[in-house]
Amino acid sequence: MPKSYKIAVIPGDGIGPEVVREGLKVLDVACKKENVSYESVDFDIGGERYLRTGETLPDSVLEELKGFDAIYFGAIGHPDVPPGVLERGILLKLRFTFDLFVNLRPVKLYPNIDCPLKGKMPEDIDFVVVRENTEDVYALDGTAFQQNTENEVAIQTAIYTRKGTKRIIRYAFELALKRSREKGKPAKVTLVDKANVMTVGHGLWRRVFAEVAREFPEVETETLYVDAAAMEFVLHPERFQVVVTTNLFGDILTDLGAAIQGGIGIAPSGNIHPSKVSMFEPVHGSAPTIAGKGLACPLAAILTAALMMEHLGEMKVSQSIENAVAKALQTGKIRSLEAGKMGLSTQEVGDFIASLV
Ligand code: IPM
Ligand code: MN
Repeated sequence: MPKSYKIAVIPGDGIGPEVVREGLKVLDVACKKENVSYESVDFDIGGERYLRTGETLPDSVLEELKGFDAIYFGAIGHPDVPPGVLERGILLKLRFTFDLFVNLRPVKLYPNIDCPLKGKMPEDIDFVVVRENTEDVYALDGTAFQQNTENEVAIQTAIYTRKGTKRIIRYAFELALKRSREKGKPAKVTLVDKANVMTVGHGLWRRVFAEVAREFPEVETETLYVDAAAMEFVLHPERFQVVVTTNLFGDILTDLGAAIQGGIGIAPSGNIHPSKVSMFEPVHGSAPTIAGKGLACPLAAILTAALMMEHLGEMKVSQSIENAVAKALQTGKIRSLEAGKMGLSTQEVGDFIASLV
C-alpha cells in the first residue's frame, strides 16, 4: 500500500495563495510519479480572517493541526494589519506552540542563475543555515518605561537556555554528518555568534558548541563573529557547509543567504521539530503590492514543498522536484527570479516545472 500523508495548507496572505498553488501542482505530479499519496486540507488563516473576525490562530486550529504530518505555509502579512499582529499571532505562535526549534534554510545556487557574487558557481554555494527558532529576542515581549516621553526606556532581552542551545547545535552536527555522507565532502559546522560582545549569552553558545563538538570528533568546526560571517557569505561562501546560529542572526543572515543564491524568489525554509508536526514556508513574505497579478516567483514555494517531502523521508519525491527546478532553470526559459521579470507568469512557471518532473 502506498503511504499517504496529511498535509495542512495555510496559503495565507498576498502572494501566498498563488505560490502555494504552484507548489502543490508540482508536488502532486512528483507524488504521483513516485507513488506517494497525500491529502491536503486548506486552512483560512491570515490577515483577511483577522480583519473579518479578530482571530489570528485560534486554539481549535492549533489542535487540529496536530493531526497532520506537516504544514505547508505560504506567507502572512497584510497592509491593513499593524506590523507584529500576524507575525506574533500566527507565524511565531506556530513556531513556539509546536516547539519548532530548527529553522532550516538551505542556501544553494542552482545552475544558470545570475548570481550577484562575481565568479561564483553552483559548487561554491551549497550550504545550510540552521537557525535556532524559539529563543533569543523572539522569546520575550520586552519592557517599556515612560513610553513616548523624553525619559523613555526600552528593554528588549535576548534569552538563551543551555537545553535550547544544545539541541540546535547537536542538530547542526548531525546534519553535517548526513550531508557529508550524501555529498562525499568533509563534514563541517560553523558557529556564528557575537561572543566578543554578548559574552554571557553567546559565551554559553561557545561553551555548548565546544562540548557538543567533542561528541563529533569527525566533524570539522570553526567559529565566526556575525559581522565577519556576513562578509564571508559574500566573499567566500564555499567555506560553509552547515552554519549554526542564533535566532536573530539567523534571520538576518538568511536574507543575505537568499540574495547570494539568486534572490528571495528561490529560498525555501523549514520550521522543524524532529518529532512534531513541522511547518514549511518560503523565506519570502506576502508581497501585497504584487499579489494576484501572476508576477511572484513560485520557485521558493516549490522548493519548500521539496524540503517538506525530504523531512517526511520521501527522498525520491523531494529529489524529483529539485531536479525539475534545476532542469527548468537550465533551459533559460525562466529569465529572472525577480517578481515580474521572469518572462513567464507565476502559473506558467509552475506548469513548466510540473511538466519536467
Ligand atoms: C522570517 C521572518 C520572520 C522572522 C518575521 C516575519 C517574524 O522574517 O521568517 O525570516 O523574523 O523570523
Ligand atoms: Mn526574516
